[in-house]
This record gives sequence, structure tokens and C-alpha cells, in this order.
Amino acid sequence: MTFAKLSENPEYSSILPATFLHGYASAAYQIEGATSQGGRGASIWDEFLRDSPENGDTACNSYHLWRNDIELLKQYGANSYRFSISWSRIKPLGGRKDEVNHEGIKYYNDLIDGLLEAGIEPTVTLFHYDVPLSLQRRYRGFAAADSGELVEDFCSFARLCFETFGDRVKRWLTINEPWIFTILYSLGLAEDWTQPDFFRVGHNCILVHGHVARLYREEFKMTQDGQIGIALNMEWVEPVDESPAAVQAANLATERCIDWFAKPIFLGTQTNAWDRHSDIFPRFSEEELQMLNGSADFFSVNHYGTSYATGRILEPGSKLDIWTMDEVEKSWTKDGILIGRRGHNGHPHTVPWGFRKVLVYCWDHFAKALDIPIIVYENGYAMENESSMAIESIIDDTARQEYYNNYFQALCDAVKMDGVQVAGYHAWSLLDNLEWHNGYQPRFGVTFVDREAGYKRIPKKSASLLNSIWRYTVHGKRE
Ligand code: NOJ
Repeated sequence: MTFAKLSENPEYSSILPATFLHGYASAAYQIEGATSQGGRGASIWDEFLRDSPENGDTACNSYHLWRNDIELLKQYGANSYRFSISWSRIKPLGGRKDEVNHEGIKYYNDLIDGLLEAGIEPTVTLFHYDVPLSLQRRYRGFAAADSGELVEDFCSFARLCFETFGDRVKRWLTINEPWIFTILYSLGLAEDWTQPDFFRVGHNCILVHGHVARLYREEFKMTQDGQIGIALNMEWVEPVDESPAAVQAANLATERCIDWFAKPIFLGTQTNAWDRHSDIFPRFSEEELQMLNGSADFFSVNHYGTSYATGRILEPGSKLDIWTMDEVEKSWTKDGILIGRRGHNGHPHTVPWGFRKVLVYCWDHFAKALDIPIIVYENGYAMENESSMAIESIIDDTARQEYYNNYFQALCDAVKMDGVQVAGYHAWSLLDNLEWHNGYQPRFGVTFVDREAGYKRIPKKSASLLNSIWRYTVHGKRE
């Protein structure tokens, strides 16, 4: 082992509160499989990956093996599990007037009951990228030019979830990573994609979040006493040097990826970071901003990697520019030195100090003034070429152990040294789930899923490392 174990350093003993949520995260399409079983309707992913070997038809088979997943969570010392509901599993056609699928409802009811019996708190993501296909066809899903139908359909789906599961689920996330979702739409999830769609999708995500949070607070919170938030993702971008161009570029990148969403939701304001595209960037009305302001009860952040902003501007029309409309050039190296250990295909590198900066940024800019905690709902690492390694090295996953050790230490330092309030941490991911990355397949799980052996789950060593870290930093217990 080449790293100093956090769970052996007395400075970190019991530094987190006993209520600290610690566990794992997953998403329906990436683990459930059974895409045409149990009455589930199609989602845009079934269509998008129909002819691809990387599709979710079986994924980790968690639709059938969810009890095994709960066993793993218990074994791994988790007290929290974030999973998502597949909209088209409980409402196959998705719309407000469309039918409810009771088999789908039963699946999630059983899962929630099983988690609670095991002493694991569920956090439910209502939407993790998987639009019911029929809604995509009806009005282009989240790329709808007029958000009216989308808001009504989503609210009706959310109402069904609150009514059905809200007696037991006390933490909700409306939408997963709107920033990445806008990019996925531009990569082919939306047919006939045009540039204005990029901003429309992001804008519609924010609006939907606002309406759903209002619905929960007005009609359910009083009796169910839960909390609602939105899972934003934030990569850290560090200026490569002190030049004004690099500093400005790093700030702009951050404002685009996080402030675009966080400003309306936590501050009731809008970003100017997209003024370059003001002709196609939709603005919120005063009334919408009022609804959005303060519409999350905690600051939920997903984080993976860090890069440098060089200060150079990409040529219009270059690949990255098309995906993200972002002309800020980013790099993984400085003076020829790599920023951290490479992840699979460069996604992500290990840069624990970037994670600490993310936590401090979210705290200083948004959460602190509102006195709400930050909850990390995703953080993880894909080891380079893991899929071609021998099973012994996969299980031994030393690089992932080092990643989690050092990233969790960065979290503890943000709490201890920077005064950031962090109420929870979830590693991505519980299982080696389906990852769609345009041809290359990173693995993020702390559990190897042996597909040839009936989807048998085989723990990797980073799961026990995380367990000992949590025991120590939360309860002061050594192995
Ligand atoms: C974030 C997304 O929420 C998740 O779906 C994905 O698998 C991970 N990033 C890793 O790529």
C-alpha cells in the first residue's frame, strides 16, 4: 500500500457526526436490466442503445437480484443507499393520463422495505437520464420547446412517487446531473438535436426541479417530513497558472457547469456565464425565479475529477465545443506533468485536492448562507483498463483504494480545516454497472459482477477500505 491509511490516523477519529450518511449510489437503467419485463415501458436509452453491446437489457440484473444488493450494502457497512426510479417502469408511457404499472410499484416498494429492514436509509432519485420513450416522441422530452407538458407529466409522476413511497422515503433528488444530461442529449439521446436544445434541456431541468420541489413542499412535506434536492455535478477546473486568461477561463468553466443550475435554485438569480450565446440561452421570468429560490433542502454534489484551464480558447466547431458549447480549453497536464493518476480513458484523474476545492466552493457560494449541509451523492474512480485485468487484480483494486482513501481524507479536511458542513457521502458505485461512454467501458464499482456466473457479486477490497474509513471517522472504531 503506498498511501497513508486514513483509518489509522488519530487526527481523523470521530471527526464526522454520528448521523453522517455513508453508502453507495446507483441508477435504474445502469443496474436493473429486465427492460422488457414486469410491464416496464421503453425509455430513450433502450432506443438509443438498441443495437449496441453496451446496452442495459440485463445490466447487473438488479431487478431480480436486489436482495443481494442489500446484503452487500449491509456487509459494506452502509447506512444510506441512493437509487433511482425508472419512470417508465412505474408509468410505461410516462404521461399524466397514462396508466400506472403496479408490478413496477411493487418492485420499488419491496426494495425500500428491504433497505429499511436492513437499517439503510433510501435516497430516491426521481430521474436519472431515462425519459420514457413515448414522451420523447410526443414532445421531445426535456428538449421540448414549450415546457408545459413536460412539467405536468413529470409532476404527475413525482406525485405518484410521493404518494406511494413517501411514507418511507425521506430524501428525494429530483434530477441527476442536468449538466451531463444536456451533453448526453447532444450526443444522440435527442433526435434532430440542434444547438438551442443544449440550453433548453438545462433550462427545463431547472424548471422541472422547481415545480416538483414546490409540489412536495406544498402537499407532502407537512405529513411526510422529508427533504428534497437536486443532484448537481461539479468538476473542479484549476487555472494552469496565474495569468488572467487562465484564471478567467477556470472561473467561467465553473460558473457554466455549476452556477447555471445552482444560482437559480439556491440564490434565485441567473448566471451570465452564457452571454456569448445570449441569442439562444433562455432566461427565467421573475415569477419562476421566485419559485426556484431556495428550492432545495440540502446541497447535493456529485464529483469525479479535476482539470486545468489553459486560458486558451477552442476553435468554434471543435469536438468539445459542440458537446458543451464551452470554448474553454482544458488539459490534464501542466508542464508535461499529469494532474493525477489517469483513470480509464482519462476519466477521471485522481486529484483529491480538487474535491476539497469543490466542497469549499459549494459551501462558500451557496450552502453556508442558507445554513444547509452538503451531501455528496456520487464520487468514484474507474481504474485504467480494469476490464482486461486478471480477477485477482480487480479484487485487489489498489488504485481505487488509494482514490477513496485520499478523497475521503479531502472531505474530512474540508470539514475540519475549512468549516464545511458535510452531512453525507456516497461512493459511485455499488456495482460494476453499465456505463455508456461512447465505445469505451469504464468500471466504477466496488463490486465485480461476474456475468458468466449468473451475475454473481464479488466484493473488491475498496469496499472494506471504505467501511473501515467510515467506522473510524464517524464512530472512532478501529478494525
Ligand atoms: C455520473 C452519473 O450520474 C452516472 O450515471 C455515471 O455512471 C457516473 N457519472 C460515472 O460515469
